[in-house]
Amino acid sequence: MQHAILILNGPNLNLLGTRQPEVYGPTTLQDIEALCAAKAAALNVTMDFVQSNHEGVLIDHLHAARGRFDGIILNAGAYTHSSIALMDAVSSIMLPLVELHLSNIHAREAFRHHSYIAPVAVGQICGFGAAGYALAIEALVGYLGTHG
Ligand code: DQA
Repeated sequence: MQHAILILNGPNLNLLGTRQPEVYGPTTLQDIEALCAAKAAALNVTMDFVQSNHEGVLIDHLHAARGRFDGIILNAGAYTHSSIALMDAVSSIMLPLVELHLSNIHAREAFRHHSYIAPVAVGQICGFGAAGYALAIEALVGYLGTHG
């Protein structure tokens, strides 16, 4: 069976490429979407790639994923560190989710060390820049292969 995955990106990630390139790298979100499409095709999964700056819209996407996707990759941006509502949404939808960050949040400011997503995620990938998206797809597809 071909799996379908949702790649969900949170606030300010639309500015990648120009946003603090020393932290997040020179790659644009459009480049990252192309990288993800190539990786998904290579692994024979379909994907949707979405970005929103709005917490409620991200929650709506998580709810809508039920029945449409087999798993999710979430880079929640700064909502990672603040949003109990996003954490509750992830808990509620019963879909495996990989938490993703371009930067190594554990090597940055203390307020970035805590993630509300981590306890409800299958696992976390951070610190590998844009390449982390491909790693996250591999991790999620591998997980789906062994867990349904
Ligand atoms: C980020 C890390 C967050 O701390 C930050 O607020 C972001 C991006 C990352 O991909 O490294 O917006 O999620």
